[in-house]
Amino acid sequence: SAPGPGAIVIFGASGDLTKRKLLPAIYALFERNLLPEKFAVIGVARTEMSNEDFQEEVREAMLVNGDTVTEEFLHRFSYVAGQYTEADTFARLQTELERVSEVHGTEGNALFYLAMPPTMFEPIVKGLAEQGLLEEEEAWARVIIEKPFGHDLESAVALDKSLKRYIKESQTYRIDHYLGKETVQNILMLRFANSIFEPLWNHTYIEKVEITVAEELGVEKRAGYYDKAGALRDMFQNHMVQMLSLIAMEPPAVFEADAYRDEIAKLISSIRPLEGQDLGNISVRGQYVESVDSDRPAAGYRKEEGVDPRSQTETYVALKLFIDNWRWRGVPFYMRTGKRLPKKSSEIAITFKPIPHSIFKPIRPKDFNQNVLLLRMQPHEGMGLSIEVKAPGSKLCVNTLDMDFSYSDFMQGEDIPDAYERLILDALLGDQTLFVRNDTVEASWQLFMPLIRAWDANLENVPLCFYPAFSEGPKETNEILEGGSLQWRKI
Ligand code: BG6
Repeated sequence: SAPGPGAIVIFGASGDLTKRKLLPAIYALFERNLLPEKFAVIGVARTEMSNEDFQEEVREAMLVNGDTVTEEFLHRFSYVAGQYTEADTFARLQTELERVSEVHGTEGNALFYLAMPPTMFEPIVKGLAEQGLLEEEEAWARVIIEKPFGHDLESAVALDKSLKRYIKESQTYRIDHYLGKETVQNILMLRFANSIFEPLWNHTYIEKVEITVAEELGVEKRAGYYDKAGALRDMFQNHMVQMLSLIAMEPPAVFEADAYRDEIAKLISSIRPLEGQDLGNISVRGQYVESVDSDRPAAGYRKEEGVDPRSQTETYVALKLFIDNWRWRGVPFYMRTGKRLPKKSSEIAITFKPIPHSIFKPIRPKDFNQNVLLLRMQPHEGMGLSIEVKAPGSKLCVNTLDMDFSYSDFMQGEDIPDAYERLILDALLGDQTLFVRNDTVEASWQLFMPLIRAWDANLENVPLCFYPAFSEGPKETNEILEGGSLQWRKI
């Protein structure tokens, strides 16, 4: 259902995130009739610009995305210029909010999207609060923020404390865009809308779970941020942990914001602490060097624009985690993510245990392939299940059959909605389920702090390993985890 009246206010209106993700998502919602009938979009940024200039900027950004937007859409856009630290900016924003309430009927409701670096979160939220724009007496006010939520546990706690002075948790919408992906949400539907998986979803039947988020892209133009962050902060602390939680969590009684997020919090706090484990046996950090494939040249990370030539930042992380609870006792969760890997591919592979005994002599139990349930998150979204079948013919021969489901068949040529569409819609509806609660942000930082500290100290057992761009990652990944016996799936 479409949400009630409201305005979307985008701070960072000329930025990359706005152009690449937010505007296309807002337009797609408009096209699908999922925006409120009474809506407006107000852009806020530092550059002086008229409403017409801003509308032109929106039109052009959408053209780059291949969409010609209509006047009906554009006339809802207006613009406020100003410094984010000046009270005057917020006073002008208030006047504009009042104007759009009158002209477009938004009734004073406002969703503030902070498409800005985190250093700007506090000044903006403070500016909004001091102008009275976050009060919820007659209208609602919600704030969306983007990661990174801190740089480590301490800064995450400090950030939250400073935000809480001005906004309530119920007004805070922390985006992890992986949670907006259809395939990620499908994990829960698969687990809890079918009766055939859940009985097997535990240590008795599952041997291991492998989660891979591989990217082909390198650091691109984001060195300023990335060289200080690295793959653990950029991908693991958030997206990877959220996916692990969805695979491993207990079912909430209802799929509602707090019931669901309580289970996520419980799961993260059940992950075996890294403290006290031999980090050299459970983790690998890597950095890409120049490609060795002459058909596919690419510079090494340290040669990328804006990267410190002696950078120790990891562009790849592999980890072996355990979840210390009844369901998952002893099941390893192998997780890896990295940039400049052979291709973009995110998938979760669940390998079931071998059969206990073979009745098909002389075929031995280990001659059968183990069943694998494969969830392809992106691209080529879909699912696969490998099962053993008899190869047709007179002899007793076994063959592996891959049952395959692809979203593209399901969607009949239509694109899968982008993650931002779903999340913006949910925020307009006031549904926080797919937004990250603060306790889980902090629990996740807490989990990784021992690793961060060991890397910062450059401890000998956690060296930075190197891998050529477009290879499968550092060779140490196989050697270290399970002493070479583990075969990761090919990317
Ligand atoms: C972002 C990271 O959160 O996710 C990027 O900051 C990464 O470094 C991106 O490239 C991956 O998202 P997606 O949706 O392309 O898998």
